[in-house]
Amino acid sequence: PRNIIIDTDPGQDDAMAILLALGSPEEVNVLGITVVAGNVPLALTAKNARKVCEVAGRPDVKVFEGCDRPLAHTLVTAEHVHGKTGLDGIELPDPVMPLQDQNGVDFIIDTLRAEPAGTVTLCPLGPLTNIATAFNKAPDIIEKVQEIVLMGGAYFEVGNVTPAAEFNIYVDPEAADIVFKSGVQLTVMPLDCTHKVLVTAPRLQAFRDFGTHLGDVVAGWLDFFERFDVEKYGSLGGPLHDPTVIAYLIKPELFSGRFINVEIETHSDLTRGMTVADWWGVTNRAPNAMFMAEADADGFFALLTERVARLNG
Ligand code: BDR
Ligand code: CA
Repeated sequence: PRNIIIDTDPGQDDAMAILLALGSPEEVNVLGITVVAGNVPLALTAKNARKVCEVAGRPDVKVFEGCDRPLAHTLVTAEHVHGKTGLDGIELPDPVMPLQDQNGVDFIIDTLRAEPAGTVTLCPLGPLTNIATAFNKAPDIIEKVQEIVLMGGAYFEVGNVTPAAEFNIYVDPEAADIVFKSGVQLTVMPLDCTHKVLVTAPRLQAFRDFGTHLGDVVAGWLDFFERFDVEKYGSLGGPLHDPTVIAYLIKPELFSGRFINVEIETHSDLTRGMTVADWWGVTNRAPNAMFMAEADADGFFALLTERVARLNG
């Protein structure tokens, strides 16, 4: 299996990504989960990540607290999407499993230094603050990263938090800029891709049909998360952004896109956090990101359902 670090701000869709990873031990080995401030403040993302591990029957997973604010801006959160706790939709007990003592940024640095080069993949599902901070603090780790597969940005689908920007990039554009310029092999799951994996009623029901506690928890989350997006986008169901990152690692053939140049807007107030993606190759800027635009939604939900069902929750 591929060694991964999940960097996340749960978030119901982040939670689904964690479950997909924990349910797929043959393909991915979760070395640790680092949390970051994003959808909700850090104290809540730290709590939510542990709730997810516990509900998955995996209190042994190591969870580390990272950065509590973006590099250069005040934190913007998304309670209007994820609810007050960040994980609304079903009541879960406070976690019993501990947070690790080590800081998440230091965990990322130490892990990359300790493991052979090219054997650790970073999976950011929230603002890129932890990753950029690690790269700033320890530039020697950059060349050791196998790949970064992240959820963020948009091209044709433009923005979901402002007309120009996707939430994860908008919250910390300076961090995103560092990551996109780092030279690391980068695979991006933007809104163009995630807006194709919609939680329709039958896809949600498939989780309820497990007849297990975990199945009900997932259905509760998705029901909450979906309701918001159906109202907003008028589509068949809400997009399930973050698990596309893990699904890509397990079954890359579910997705397709183009290797292009992507730059991050950090100066303009109007378009802050925009991913300026050269989809048509109209500049001669060097490609730096595999930018996914298509997803096999049925294949994705079949994988997600099958793997979450394997968990002992
Ligand atoms: C991203 O923003 C967050 O609200 C979701 O968890 C996802 O990572 C989608 O724009
Ligand atoms: Ca997220």
